[in-house]
Amino acid sequence: MGMEFDFDTMINRRNTNCGKWDTMDKKYGCEDMLHLGVADMDFKAPDPILDGLRDILDMGVLGYTDLSDRFFESIQRWYKKQYQIDVPREWIVFCPRINVASSICVDTYTDKGDGVIMNTPAYGPLRSAIEKNDRSFLASPLKRDGDRYVLDFEHMESLVDVRTKMLIMCNPHNPTGRCWTKEELTQAAEFCRRHDLILFSDEIHGDLVAEGVTHYSTLNITDDINERLILATSPAKTFNIPGVIVSYMIIPNEDLRKQMAKTIDRIGMHNPTIFAVTAVEKAYTECDDWYVAVKKYIDANEAFTRAYFAEHFPAFHILPREGTYLLWIDYSALGMSEEALEQWFLREANVSVYMGSVFGEAGVGYMRLNLASPRAMLEAAYERMRKAWRF
Ligand SMILES: Cc1ncc(COP(=O)(O)O)c(C=O)c1O
Repeated sequence: MGMEFDFDTMINRRNTNCGKWDTMDKKYGCEDMLHLGVADMDFKAPDPILDGLRDILDMGVLGYTDLSDRFFESIQRWYKKQYQIDVPREWIVFCPRINVASSICVDTYTDKGDGVIMNTPAYGPLRSAIEKNDRSFLASPLKRDGDRYVLDFEHMESLVDVRTKMLIMCNPHNPTGRCWTKEELTQAAEFCRRHDLILFSDEIHGDLVAEGVTHYSTLNITDDINERLILATSPAKTFNIPGVIVSYMIIPNEDLRKQMAKTIDRIGMHNPTIFAVTAVEKAYTECDDWYVAVKKYIDANEAFTRAYFAEHFPAFHILPREGTYLLWIDYSALGMSEEALEQWFLREANVSVYMGSVFGEAGVGYMRLNLASPRAMLEAAYERMRKAWRF
């Protein structure tokens, strides 16, 4: 028998400087809106993590902190247990955030004016890592094959020239929810090898796959990708601890690691926060049951949402979700502009979601909805939508 966990309690996160609730209230000028946008969960983190952080607070001295042996061993345990991959300790490189990792990787491994390919629709900060470092953002739109988004290798090929230096992938893909197959990743690895590109693989959503779906880490695709791979991930999404600010990169190639060590030294990115090390140790060693349970809860939220939408909003077409806790929804059948639909959500339904243009031109006609909330909260949001619905 697995342990029972409470994902049903609605926790009031307002007045805590919360990005999802307070910032969005301010943004939309609203006080009682239900927010299904920002990608964190409305669930409490697992008890072992909270207890570990409480112990730190009880000790009371919030001083400089260093990485522990257990930090590395915990990551190694997780990769072995979840993905049957042995990650040598020296490959693991601490980084506060993935959004820092992507930016410093672009800065370290490419030069100003170089081209970096990325599939669209795209998670904004990954795109920013390219553009704000004055590199050229080479967008390769994913193709829709029926309900399935696929990589368009022909188009990716057409983007490459002598100044193209990197491919950034997101796996599972935010916002479309695709988990790239072994074959797709092998093809992407071969593409990078052929054109001598660094592959930056953002796998922050990797642990959160739907029942029956496998997350293939780029690390277990082919050995020769290792010479050009930077994998960036963290327990932040999996265990709902993004406010702790901790992530890490896995960099198998020693030369690339040395270059990164220089960057880290240059920008003074030395210590993790005092909470980061404990959070990773606890998350990856004491929270396996919570992890299984939260995935089940999200799967059930998806089933609930699909049934509700099929009954009340059949014009919203929900695409298959393989990974992430986000639903990518095609509303083009409504024939409504994004502005009109957003205004309807904000002003009439009193619910917020992310409109697709947040993910660039390729996202227009879609919206993204976060499933990782208590079921009753989702139901309350859908009820608001149903009562206001007039299309
Ligand atoms: C694909 C992806 N990468 C990175 C991040 C952010 O990671 P971090 O908080 O470590 O910067 C997110 C958060 O939504 C994400 O969806």
